[in-house]
Amino acid sequence: MSDRIVVERAPAKINLDLRILSREPDGYHRLETVFQALELHDLIDARPAEALSLEIEGDVDVGPDRDNLVLRAARAFDEAMPGAGRARLRLVKHIPAGAGLGGASSDAAATLRALNALADQPLDAQVLVEIGARLGSDVPFFLCGSPLASAEGRGELLSPLPPLPSAAVLVVDPGFPVATRDAFRWWDERHATGAPEGAAQSSAYRSLPRDGFESIGRIARNDFEGVVFERHPMLERIRDGLAGAGATLALLSGSGSCVYGVFSDDALADEAARAVQQFQPDARVIATRTAS
Ligand code: C5P
Repeated sequence: MSDRIVVERAPAKINLDLRILSREPDGYHRLETVFQALELHDLIDARPAEALSLEIEGDVDVGPDRDNLVLRAARAFDEAMPGAGRARLRLVKHIPAGAGLGGASSDAAATLRALNALADQPLDAQVLVEIGARLGSDVPFFLCGSPLASAEGRGELLSPLPPLPSAAVLVVDPGFPVATRDAFRWWDERHATGAPEGAAQSSAYRSLPRDGFESIGRIARNDFEGVVFERHPMLERIRDGLAGAGATLALLSGSGSCVYGVFSDDALADEAARAVQQFQPDARVIATRTAS
């Protein structure tokens, strides 16, 4: 075995806007969203080995191995390139799980990139995206190569956008997860009687390149907030706390459980971190930046 090692960063994401348009006959939901990658990241490293194995470091609970998207990604890669999924993988986990930050999806994307690099890039980007889309709706974003992109369909039809200058972000982890599947079910229960209100396409992202987070902050919404805040009112208080502390944009990320605030001023972000930590001592406030 060679002693080659490939290391890939797996960034977290936030959703700057998220609109659920409809429930499709297959149970999935058509949505429109804007993904922004963060500097907060996990790391994946891969070395050639006789068999596939995964070692996980860090204090984040990622659930049972059989559900781990890293192993599923490696097996999917091996199916496409027989033998090339045999690797010793190490995941260094910093992104909270079940948090709406895309951690597991990003780990899966980084695994595909790492294995492809280890095998000297046999698969092109389009094939990797196809494999990724089968693993999870958010995986293609982490393979698209842009830190900012709008998405349609299940979230897998991407349009990369010109990156915005890096801004300070506070991510507040309440310390419990929300399962995406549950959040969609709650949304279905509320919208069982017809089309969702105001489900028209947002077009929010079209104004993004002009004046960035400020403009999206004026119109952004996340359609999960209603049903998730109903069950976890503290998340709404955290969002309002971030907005009150001067965030340009404060929203639930994805289906939660994390809430984030984007700040145009770094000093304001520092002050807001202290304030949120004081009124929510059990939450974990993660200070990071948007990737650009
Ligand atoms: O695609 P992914 O496996 O990440 O999705 C997790 C769950 O969220 C799915 O099993 C599905 O129930 C729900 N989902 C959905 N519509 C989407 C994306 C996910 O209903 N566009």
